[in-house]
Amino acid sequence: MSSKNDWEEDIVRKILAAFKAPKTLDQHMCSILGYAGSSQAAPLLVEGLRRMEYRGYDSAGVATSFMDRILVKKGVGRVFEVNNAVNLDSLPGDVGIGHTRWATHGKVNEANAHPHLSSSNGIAIVHNGIIDNYLELKRELSLSGYTFRSETDSEVIANLLQRNYDTTRDFKKSMITTLSQLKGKYAFIAISKDGGLAAARFQEPLMIGVGKHGYFASSDILGFVRNTDEVVYLDNGQFAMLSSKAISISDFEGNPTPHQITKISKEFADADKSDYVHYTLKEIYEQPITILRAGGMTTRELDWLAASIVRSKNVYITGSGTSFNAALIGKYLFSKYARIKIESLISSETQFSPVYFDSNSILIALSQSGESADVLETANIAKDSGAEVISITNVMTSSLAHMSSISVSLNCGPEIGVAATKSFTSQLAILYKLTNKLCGVLDAPDFNQISNNISKLLLNYSYIQQIASELKNVSDIYVLGNGIHQYVAMEASLKLKELSYIHAESFPGGELKHGPLALIDSNAYVVVINPGDSTYASMSTATHEVKARGAKVIGISNIPNEIYDYWMPLPTVDEAFYPLIEIVPLQLLAYYSAIERNANPDYPRNLAKSVTVK
Ligand code: AGP
Repeated sequence: MSSKNDWEEDIVRKILAAFKAPKTLDQHMCSILGYAGSSQAAPLLVEGLRRMEYRGYDSAGVATSFMDRILVKKGVGRVFEVNNAVNLDSLPGDVGIGHTRWATHGKVNEANAHPHLSSSNGIAIVHNGIIDNYLELKRELSLSGYTFRSETDSEVIANLLQRNYDTTRDFKKSMITTLSQLKGKYAFIAISKDGGLAAARFQEPLMIGVGKHGYFASSDILGFVRNTDEVVYLDNGQFAMLSSKAISISDFEGNPTPHQITKISKEFADADKSDYVHYTLKEIYEQPITILRAGGMTTRELDWLAASIVRSKNVYITGSGTSFNAALIGKYLFSKYARIKIESLISSETQFSPVYFDSNSILIALSQSGESADVLETANIAKDSGAEVISITNVMTSSLAHMSSISVSLNCGPEIGVAATKSFTSQLAILYKLTNKLCGVLDAPDFNQISNNISKLLLNYSYIQQIASELKNVSDIYVLGNGIHQYVAMEASLKLKELSYIHAESFPGGELKHGPLALIDSNAYVVVINPGDSTYASMSTATHEVKARGAKVIGISNIPNEIYDYWMPLPTVDEAFYPLIEIVPLQLLAYYSAIERNANPDYPRNLAKSVTVK
């Protein structure tokens, strides 16, 4: 007969065995939303989740507390699909939480979808981020008799909070204890079966919407923008307790912290598709307007910005993805026209780069969302080394804006499509204004003329649709550009990759003969960005090189040339300003290529709008 000890050892062995192969962290960039008020929670949560879905989506769920119970509905798919299947918005109760999950690791299935319940069903949570110490917490909780239904790291929060609540019988005290035990980067919202709601933030975005009929906790303004324009931004290391009548905000030790209510601009409320079939198309077509609104800097602000850059010994510019491509164009403009020595940093590489910020340094950080973890990391490294951080962002209430000594607004309205389009041209517009201020030799572009040019290019969409239909079964596209156009070529190839999933590669035209020409044959499609400027002759040579190998050539130029199989005409503008317009037909080409290949341009596979985790 085995002794009690043997039996316990056997249990411990079984539990440890279950943990021996650490599962991949279920990293996610999700949307989380909570409500406590006098209205029914579920319909508000479903509407908010639907508006936030651009951030990430492969499953969705809602939980409400009602008559001393927690009711949960969830499923795999987009919010509207899950709602159609299980009627998320029919759950009763005036306190609730909701979630759309975008998993980078871990299976996409109902068990892993949020909300997650504690094993006694007394608490439910939704979470964004990563719990680094979830394995040991899970082991400890399992030994205390708590059971798990999913393979996610998030679920430990529910049981940990439950165990602390079972000990203290006080929701706020159990939050304080729980927050002292979690390690990682997270934002989570929890409800208890008796109607409590708590929300905590550490390194992931979280804000409180102050409505007339209740309070919201959300990872994104879009979660509650239809219901209120008043918001309280939680700082890292703060948590809020919400009820239908009040909110209290404390630090993780439970000390009350002062908070201010901010008004959000009304424009966030217009984030809908209006009569466009996709947000991405709407945002491409908004560019004639957004280019005029970019960077509403006062003269004083512009002077201040320019003075900060000029007095700095070391100037750095950084971004990720499209924002990095814009940063490279900014570097080119500052170097060429303002003779400013400037170093570009791709944000994800900063941690590995031999860059030494100091108090004589300034970092110009570009980020549409202002929440990209890589950009925030670079800005933190710079700031911790005494450098000044200025930012160019579309969200003036973002973490990046908060940490900058000055932040310039793209002012282009919410960009919902995962692919950056209008934010790119708005970033360029601000960089041109700054260059002009710094040097004076580069007249500020005539933005009204640029706006008209973009409008004319957008009228040519049916021809671009035709070219896209040609690309339907193409596996590789090469995009060539020289000088400042090489960075537009990088942006065009990124658009093609992320929207149409076609492998697209960009490089300077002069590099062809140093290797890539070996790839060119009669199956190749080559886009040449070839306006009639100082790069024209060199790019024409490259065009002949690929044509001689049988490639199909798509020429972007203000000069027709019979060598092009397809010609995307450009208006003639000053050489410096071509990037502002030549990217537009290429954005359309990527968009229509996505349509031709049945990809959803607003929600490209595997991608999220704001990459808030490393
Ligand atoms: C661009 O189309 C992509 N969506 C992506 O590369 C994006 O530009 C990048 O993640 C940076 O985002 P941010 O500008 O919000 O920092």
